[in-house]
Formats: sequence, C-alpha cells, structure tokens
Amino acid sequence: MNFTDSKIAEYAESFTSEESGLIQRLLEVSVEKMEHVDMLSGRQVGMLLRLLVQISGAKRVLDIGTFTGYSAMMMADVLPEDGELITIEFNEHYRQVSDLFLSEPPFDKRIYQIMGNALEIIPRMEGDFDLIFLDADKINYPKYFQVCKTKLRKGGLFVIDNVLWGGKVIDQSDEKAKAVHKMNEMIREDPQTEQVILPVRDGITILRLK
Ligand SMILES: C[S@@+](CC[C@H](N)C(=O)[O-])C[C@H]1O[C@@H](n2cnc3c(N)ncnc32)[C@H](O)[C@@H]1O
Repeated sequence: MNFTDSKIAEYAESFTSEESGLIQRLLEVSVEKMEHVDMLSGRQVGMLLRLLVQISGAKRVLDIGTFTGYSAMMMADVLPEDGELITIEFNEHYRQVSDLFLSEPPFDKRIYQIMGNALEIIPRMEGDFDLIFLDADKINYPKYFQVCKTKLRKGGLFVIDNVLWGGKVIDQSDEKAKAVHKMNEMIREDPQTEQVILPVRDGITILRLK
C-alpha cells in the first residue's frame, strides 16, 4: 500500500538516493526468484533506515523479518567497522536469495542471521540495541512493542513498518489492522516514548525511547 499519489511517489523515489551495486543486484534477484517481492520494504523506507543508522550513530541493530535481506543490507552497509546487525527470519525458502548476498563482504562480517520465530528469539537475546526495525508478524505487533522496548537502549530508535496497514487501522476491519492499531495506541499512551508516524508507503513509525 502507498498513501501517496502514484506520480508523486514515483517522483519522490526518483529523487531518493539509489542503492549500492550489490543491493541493486539483490533487488533484481528478488524480483526474479520471489513471488511476494512486494514484501520488500523498498527504496524510501530503505534510505530512511540507512539515514537513521548514520544520523544516530547506531552500532548494534536488530532487523525483524529478513525476507531476502534488503532492509538488513541497507542498514548494515553504513554501520561502523565494529558494528553488527542481527536479522531474524523464520522462512527457510527466502535463504535461497538472502544467503547469496549476506555472505558477500562487507555484509558477511556485519550481518548475523538467526532462523526461527522472532517473538520467541528476541526475549532470549542478550544486550541492548541502538536501533530496531520491525517488519514482520503484524498480528503480534503489540507483543513486539513490549518485548522490543526491553531490548532498546535509552535514547535508542524503534522503527516500525506498515503502521497504517493499508488504511485499515481507521476502522480496524481485519485482525491485523486491530493488532497494528492496538500497538499504535500502546505507543501513544507510553510516557517513555516520543514518536512520529510518517505516511510513507504503508506508514512508518519512528520512535525514540526516552
Ligand atoms: C515484510 S517481510 C520483511 C521485508 C524486509 N524487511 C525487507 O526490507 O526486504 C516480512 C518477513 O518476516 C518474516 N516473518 C514473519 N513472521 C515472522 C516471525 N514470527 N519470525 C521471524 N520471521 C517472520 C516473513 O517470512 C517475511 O520474510
């Protein structure tokens, strides 16, 4: 879903910086090999993430929902030498693409992929993150907000995709819309967060933990 007029969205994308060579190749191979390539977060979200990593100076990043690796690579590309990004995915099928790219330098030394259910894995993870990007398992968004908050350092950023869920958050006409809306409410009521929802693509929240 894209809330912007298609011509404006096209214009905005054409004036957004392009991905590096290897990430462009990942995009091509994803289109070639994957049925649900629309799951990929895309250039505007990808560049936003990349800029947020750089502006915030994030060193330790968590990416929830690898798919073929686009958001992970966009962020890891600008991590410092000693930075690391952990990405979680439960569908083995997508590894036929992500393995090809995450094994290439510099990503091989910066990205660690964990296979399994993110909601079970995250509570067992040690240490805090500077930035967390959530882009998986919408039905459980309220639970991810609760668990990710405990894994974010003070001042850290939590970026969440699809927070307008195709506009259905307005009347909550399906279960996923209800879950996304519930999380949006939890965030609004939380005195420990400050946030903005940008109607970029399917809606993106940028939240800072106070
Ligand atoms: C929208 S895609 C992620 C797109 C990716 N961030 C990108 O920019 O290309 C969501 C991914 O999350 C995965 N996923 C869904 N539920 C999950 C769960 N509970 N644990 C781990 N991965 C999950 C899906 O298999 C899918 O690959």
